[in-house]
Amino acid sequence: MTGQDPLSRNAFPADFTWGVATSSYQIEGGTKEDGRGPSIWDTFSGTPGRVVDGDTGEVAVEHFHRYEEDVALMADLGVEAYRFSVAWPRVQPTGSGPVNVAGLDFYDRLVDALLARGITPWATLYHWDLPQPLEDAGGWPVRATAERFAEYAGHVAQELGDRVGHFITLNEPWCSAFLGYGSGRHAPGRSDPAEALAASHHLLLGHGLAVETIRAAAPTAQVGITLNLYPVDGAHDGHGVADAVRRVDGLANRWFLDPVLRGAYPKDVVEDVRHLSDLSFVHDGDLDVVSAPLDFLGVNYYTRHVVAPGAFPGTVDVDFQGRGMPTTAMGWEVDPDGLFDILTRVTRDYGDLPLVMTENGAAFDDVLVDGRVHDEQRVEFLRGHLDAGRRAVEAGVPLAGYFAWSLMDNFEWAEGYAKRFGLVHVDFRTQERTVKDSGRWYSEFLTGTPY
Ligand code: FCB
Repeated sequence: MTGQDPLSRNAFPADFTWGVATSSYQIEGGTKEDGRGPSIWDTFSGTPGRVVDGDTGEVAVEHFHRYEEDVALMADLGVEAYRFSVAWPRVQPTGSGPVNVAGLDFYDRLVDALLARGITPWATLYHWDLPQPLEDAGGWPVRATAERFAEYAGHVAQELGDRVGHFITLNEPWCSAFLGYGSGRHAPGRSDPAEALAASHHLLLGHGLAVETIRAAAPTAQVGITLNLYPVDGAHDGHGVADAVRRVDGLANRWFLDPVLRGAYPKDVVEDVRHLSDLSFVHDGDLDVVSAPLDFLGVNYYTRHVVAPGAFPGTVDVDFQGRGMPTTAMGWEVDPDGLFDILTRVTRDYGDLPLVMTENGAAFDDVLVDGRVHDEQRVEFLRGHLDAGRRAVEAGVPLAGYFAWSLMDNFEWAEGYAKRFGLVHVDFRTQERTVKDSGRWYSEFLTGTPY
């Protein structure tokens, strides 16, 4: 840190968790090894036209084979915690039934490698790679999928719970439900609003049931869920803007926060969606399950939504607008204040559950020259967002951790390998890893010494 830079890890609580994050399908490759079954992302990315350049996760960044090298890299950087996800189709190739021991063994080895280097494992149980046979049986719009998920989660907690102290049930159920079954932008690529709503409920039900099976198998583990949250602002104060804000905040944030943390769906959103679904998939008692007490809430933050009524005021039609601010390669505006706003809002509205920033990061068009990637914009992004986190701590938010997205460049879903989010550059041809300037910066921030 330079003399003018007041941002330091000392501004955060002493027991704050500092880490990096990844997910199984985005990094592992080895999609047919050791008995892994197909996932919806294998099918989706294998379907022409779904992913940029026809990219798939079949090879990804070969983490399945290079995990020891990747763990060593993290240790080298001074990273203290690692949020990874477990691929359900490795553990249960068809999504149900007995555990595929060879598949689960991979995570055993990974966890042991992390612990040997003093890195704390945080395991996400579902980061979007649903076993294809469960999708063939109806997928998340079907209630049985929630039950299967809880069984799977229990198996993983049983096996890893003696060494893994933090479990995250779901990553960003909004994306699974509304991109997977609503817009069709993500796997399985279905577009039916009623199914998307049913999927959202069954994801949350699966979360609640999994909290029970995880706690039964690993009673001392900390359990949480990760939501992608956005502050939502009006583009101007004209007619209909406040209602557009309410609707978007309702479906993006409160549709998930309220059931998990208050045990009820927001009434106004129930009214908004009534013409699409009568929500008869919500059974008596479900919301008690969904709102099982948690140890922390994971918050993923990338940008803010700024909205105005669309061309058809009074309908759900909403326009997402830019404000002319600098954007990342994803086209997302860089807005660190949005992180402060969403963290303080969650604490204000939902009480003082510990919050963990489980993802935050940016894609830029990096260039590797002579073994270096001078990604100054990503350094600025990290610095700005960490400072927003620091301000949130100062404002009384019980913030407990930060995980940068991502350890290394990887398969960015529908964008394939075209968007790079890593602190570490990966040459997708040779699989060579090169620490970017942002990785060096984060390392110095954590350790106090230049990388
Ligand atoms: C989040 C996902 C993560 C990654 C980032 C950029 O929505 O959880 O896997 O793709 O976006």
